[in-house]
Amino acid sequence: MLPRREHPLSTPVAPAPASRYTEAMTTTPRDAATTPDLTVQIAATGKQSLALRNPVMTASGTFANAVEFAHAIDVQRLGAVVSKACALQPRGGNPTPRTVETPAGMLNSIGLQGIGIDALLRDVAPVWATWRVPAIVNIVGERIDEYAELARRCDGVPGIAAIEVNISCPNVENGLEFGSSPHLAAQVTQAVRHNCGLPVIVKLTPNADAVAVARAVQDAGADALCVANTLLGMAIDVRTRHLVLPRGSGGLSGPAVKPIILRLVWEVYRVAAVPIIASGGIARGVDALEYILAGASAVQVGTASFRDPNAALTVLDELTELLAAQGVTRLSEIVGAAHGTIEAHQDGV
Ligand SMILES: Cc1cc2nc3c(=O)[nH]c(=O)nc-3n(C[C@H](O)[C@H](O)[C@H](O)COP(=O)(O)O)c2cc1C
Repeated sequence: MLPRREHPLSTPVAPAPASRYTEAMTTTPRDAATTPDLTVQIAATGKQSLALRNPVMTASGTFANAVEFAHAIDVQRLGAVVSKACALQPRGGNPTPRTVETPAGMLNSIGLQGIGIDALLRDVAPVWATWRVPAIVNIVGERIDEYAELARRCDGVPGIAAIEVNISCPNVENGLEFGSSPHLAAQVTQAVRHNCGLPVIVKLTPNADAVAVARAVQDAGADALCVANTLLGMAIDVRTRHLVLPRGSGGLSGPAVKPIILRLVWEVYRVAAVPIIASGGIARGVDALEYILAGASAVQVGTASFRDPNAALTVLDELTELLAAQGVTRLSEIVGAAHGTIEAHQDGV
């Protein structure tokens, strides 16, 4: 029998100071008869809270910094947008080819190309500040003090609603990925937590013991967990007999990873004291609903946006329809609902 536990979203949370995002959420009119309540409270600690109108976000690295898409889709309808990984300095990324199509997804080895924090704060955050959709900055560093500095620079900046900490990056001091060790991941989380009052989301890697890392980072002050980054994979060109990607391996994403990450969300939910944001192969509303039933409070749409920039909105519309058809009135009531079924099976019900 699985241990029964209260999900953080089903228990009352201490009132958080109002932010632009909580106010926006509570003042949105809703037709209760036809539209399910999709609002999600991602974080209620720190100086600010993060409340979303709906659970559908874009995934880091697959939607640029969102401003590039604002002319193409109605980004304001999304639950949140997440920036490309941002480092202290601009980065050119790896040589090409950096992506490979696979039968059910893609491999990438972009190498964390990005504009750097100065340009992000100067050119992008002021645009976000005029938006109603919250923007989350995905930060990445090669040393713990780099994460601390990035957090400090983002703190209190208008337009930045939260930080997502990308720990899938090697620590230059020992070559180990921060996300591969609960101890290192906790140190990064603590450094970010201590340097900003923004909600802190830590993005786990599936290439390590994600459950142990989840425990460590939530103890270190993470407000939410993103499960998960890409899975390690490889491709070989049979004509040249060379590895296709410049670094040999890359990150696998897309429909192929969904069952693997779904199980990971399930496992992390069993130990999570904070909300989970799922990321892995979500392209349709039904994918999002599966993740929510496994324990996710929100979802991110990544690779699917390369095929169709409107994919995240499709996920949102389909999810809304599915919930309405199932008579669900509040999304938060079904987070983790599939966990009860395994208990029922085990009890012989
Ligand atoms: C081309 C590409 C670039 C990515 N860049 C980042 C990044 O900068 N930071 C990050 O945390 N995750 C990054 N990711 C991982 C995605 O945000 C997402 O977690 C992952 O692709 C799984 O979701 P999906 O299957 O919906 O794509 C990237 C993924 C892809 C495909």
